[in-house]
Amino acid sequence: MSLRQDKKVYPYLFNNEWKESTTGETVEIMSPDDGAVVGAVPAMSQDEVDQAVKSASDVQENWEATEGHERSELLHRWAEELEKMTDEIGEKIHLEVGKTLSAAKSEVKRTAQLIRHTAEEGLRTHGSFIQGDAFPGASKATKAMVQKVPHGVVLAISPFNYPVNLAASKIAPALITGNTVVFKPATQGAISGLLMVEALVKAGLPKGVLNVVTGRGSVIGDFVVTHPSIDMITFTGGTGTGQHIAKQASMIPVVLELGGKDPAIVLEDADLEKTAKEIVGGALSYSGQRCTAIKRVMVMNSVADELVAKIKDKVETLKVGKSSENADITPMIDQKSADFVVSLIDDAKEKGATVVTEGIRNENLLGATVLDNVTEDMELAWEEQFGPVIPIMRVENELEAIDLEKRNQYGLQASIFTKNFENAFTIADKLNVGTVQVNGKTSRGPDHFPFLGVKNSGQGVQGIGRSIDSMLRDKVLVLNL
Ligand code: NAP
Ligand code: G3P
Repeated sequence: MSLRQDKKVYPYLFNNEWKESTTGETVEIMSPDDGAVVGAVPAMSQDEVDQAVKSASDVQENWEATEGHERSELLHRWAEELEKMTDEIGEKIHLEVGKTLSAAKSEVKRTAQLIRHTAEEGLRTHGSFIQGDAFPGASKATKAMVQKVPHGVVLAISPFNYPVNLAASKIAPALITGNTVVFKPATQGAISGLLMVEALVKAGLPKGVLNVVTGRGSVIGDFVVTHPSIDMITFTGGTGTGQHIAKQASMIPVVLELGGKDPAIVLEDADLEKTAKEIVGGALSYSGQRCTAIKRVMVMNSVADELVAKIKDKVETLKVGKSSENADITPMIDQKSADFVVSLIDDAKEKGATVVTEGIRNENLLGATVLDNVTEDMELAWEEQFGPVIPIMRVENELEAIDLEKRNQYGLQASIFTKNFENAFTIADKLNVGTVQVNGKTSRGPDHFPFLGVKNSGQGVQGIGRSIDSMLRDKVLVLNL
């Protein structure tokens, strides 16, 4: 049976018109499942990217002047239109990034909820009023009105693993606060991103308020990031790319959500059955291609054998196969990513790690691998594998686990498994991460909770309310009466 090849080019949005590039060049998007062509997007020229930014800049003042409730109503309509397209967009997410169809559709539904919540939360951004007399030498006659105003044009850059959710989590807060947007979707996931924008156009997006730029980030990225009309950047993706963007972007606010090496710290009194379930789900859902995936386990020696046995039992029940077969472990986004994961496994085995289960290797489809007795000299102890591997490090006590975390370049989330909450809080205080989960796997949601990474995991805070704050700055009006 011949492989389906959908050669359709999905045009980019410019001033509410769907356009192909004058270069005539496109970027083809292949399905991780079987390499079939899902479609293509225009490889835009610098001139076309320039026009996209300039048009968003030209209409920004008008958009900012729009009544807040009107912007909120647009977002509510967007959520409605998005939900109507759940099947169509779910299908494309499934094909483009290799998520199962049900997971892909859940992403669309989750995103509609996120947009609705933003539409409401965004109506509650208030400034403040400050009297002068609180400061010696100043009087009541000096008063400050501190307004919250938008930055202007926001560049939103999203990763492949949540092509709709991690795009809208930037676009919705930007629009509700009066910013206009230049949206750069990940190439692997760009079609899903464009369909998400189609829903926004159907909802009544005014011309130029959001323009899309498509093409490889390695080609158009630096140009758009350093464009003088970009006033703020919100990026989610790899740490290397994020650090590069932070260096390129000068004198504008930059929010970065980057990589992670989230640990699961398992204490002696943990409920090992529940812990094993949380670790397997947290480490292997979407084949570990989540920034918040559990990426190393640090278990007290005294309970390690029992925990490893439980993890092994659970991993061996997982179905490995294509996302179109609804498998639990599905093909990775591309061969390069799979090769990187394999190199980490081989390095650990060469240095003495114990193989508990070893997954199959069929091109970019890797079965789940569990390695025990992982030690500090192994790259897998420190590198973000972003793949279906569970490295288990045995530790003598909590201090050893805390010390290992101190030397972790990443600081996104951490999980602590124990029945002793006081102990959990004590350890949590010593961990330099954005979020500590107690007796639960590391994960971003629910989407109104603050979400942040520290160290090489990011800068700035996401999560609906905080994302809205990140899209605004203070503007002070001082009355000298
Ligand atoms: P990536 O390779 O860094 O790409 C992310 C985005 O940046 C894509 O849209 C990419 O475009 C674009 N890009 C690439 N080079 C650029 C440049 N020079 N200037 C501007 N944009 C550029 O990351 P990914 O592979 O999509 O995602 C996986 C990584 O993201 C993992 O490390 C994961 O931990 C991290 N992540 C973090 C979070 C979080 O919330 N902390 C969430 C999800 C993922 P192209 O697709 O065209 O290359
Ligand atoms: O990697 C995406 C990140 O944002 C994780 O989201 O909800 O899978 O924890 P979640």
